Amino acid sequence: MDKPTSPTPANLTITPRDLKLDRNASNARWWHGGDPVATAYFNALSVSFPQGETFFIESVRRYRDRTEGKLQEQIAAFIQQEAAHTREHVVFNRLIKAAGYDTSSMDAETRRRVDLARSRHPVVQLAITVALEHFTAIMANSLLTDPKPMPGAPADVLRLWQWHAIEEVEHKAVAYDTFLAVTKDLSPWRRWALRCQVMLLISVQFWYSNFQRMADFFRQDDMNTPLTWLRVIKYLWFTPGVMRRIFLPYLRFYRPGFHPWDHDDQQLIGEFEQRLS
Ligand SMILES: [Fe+2]
Ligand SMILES: [Fe+2]
Repeated sequence: MDKPTSPTPANLTITPRDLKLDRNASNARWWHGGDPVATAYFNALSVSFPQGETFFIESVRRYRDRTEGKLQEQIAAFIQQEAAHTREHVVFNRLIKAAGYDTSSMDAETRRRVDLARSRHPVVQLAITVALEHFTAIMANSLLTDPKPMPGAPADVLRLWQWHAIEEVEHKAVAYDTFLAVTKDLSPWRRWALRCQVMLLISVQFWYSNFQRMADFFRQDDMNTPLTWLRVIKYLWFTPGVMRRIFLPYLRFYRPGFHPWDHDDQQLIGEFEQRLS
């Protein structure tokens, strides 16, 4: 039980790509095609990234010396990629503020949540990262396979999210493989129970905190109403329907023997690499 059947592909290379968002770009308040719901969805994610991804780095880096060979190299590349994502989302979050939004209470709430996570046992912190990296990987796959991604978004903003998505897909198993290495002495059943239990808790918290931040954006636009939340349901479940699209991939995490590379999307990385360069 809980022995991965399809491990990380042997030919996978994790390449940190140095994308830079225009520091002086002007960003409309509802930059996502004038749609406040889509804008709030992406803004809510971005606001949490710098602190969240810093936590991912810490939780994986702590175990770098307990791994060896290829995984150790992949951890170094993972850290570089997440550090670059943090840097660029700090810039993007500055544009959100320049568009007139106050994100200070969202930042404080994210800090509170991340600090709470930091108070847990290091293996639990790693399991939290594993859970959130599964979310980012399946959401990234959903964005990259969307035939009409982010309609109406400025080209360089779309590029930022696609760049981030490629790298999330590429390094999707680094935290997971580190977790497997660190918990190798646990019984397979305990390892499965630990990652699934953490995933259940994190799933609730991840969406709850995203919705909290979206509500904050809606309040600032004076539109935190049931009608807006109906639009949110439509956005998440129907068009483009990210929740509908990630639902099955999300559930696969609970399967004993699951591995992020059960779904091989290396081809997708190659395709977007060409498009972005
Ligand atoms: Fe990232
Ligand atoms: Fe990541």
